[in-house]
Amino acid sequence: MKRTLLLPALALLALPLAAQEPAKRSALWEANCSVCHGDDGHGQTEEGLKKRARNLADAKWQETVSDGRLESSIKRGHDRMPAFGRKLNDEQVKALVAEIRSLVKKGS
Ligand code: HEC
Repeated sequence: MKRTLLLPALALLALPLAAQEPAKRSALWEANCSVCHGDDGHGQTEEGLKKRARNLADAKWQETVSDGRLESSIKRGHDRMPAFGRKLNDEQVKALVAEIRSLVKKGS
């Protein structure tokens, strides 16, 4: 009885999640970046709005910044963006840069 009710409920919950793009961030992102930049990178979270976190999914902005600049901003911080150089190693920082790049859909 319970199961017959639960399954359709889960299906309904899964629908809007699947429609979101991109659907899921890495554990690294969730633990360190989501609070300000959000799962979509738009920075529309409570913290993000307070600190004016930038929209990392902005394709035009991404074109203007090199990977090196993104790495350095993550490691050393940038304006109100905190530094993560002591918390994350180079590999993790590079993975996050790749993740930022993946926020922008190719061709848009
Ligand atoms: C406490 C809130 C906060 C957290 C947590 C945070 N950021 Fe930011 N981030 C900001 C703000 C505010 C800015 C805008 C600062 C600026 O304009 O330079 C920013 C800007 C950036 C930029 C652009 C900097 C540039 O060079 O222009 C990158 C890249 C970035 N964040 C990546 C990350 C990553 C990756 C994480 C997780 C490791 C993270 N941020 C976590 C607040 C945050």
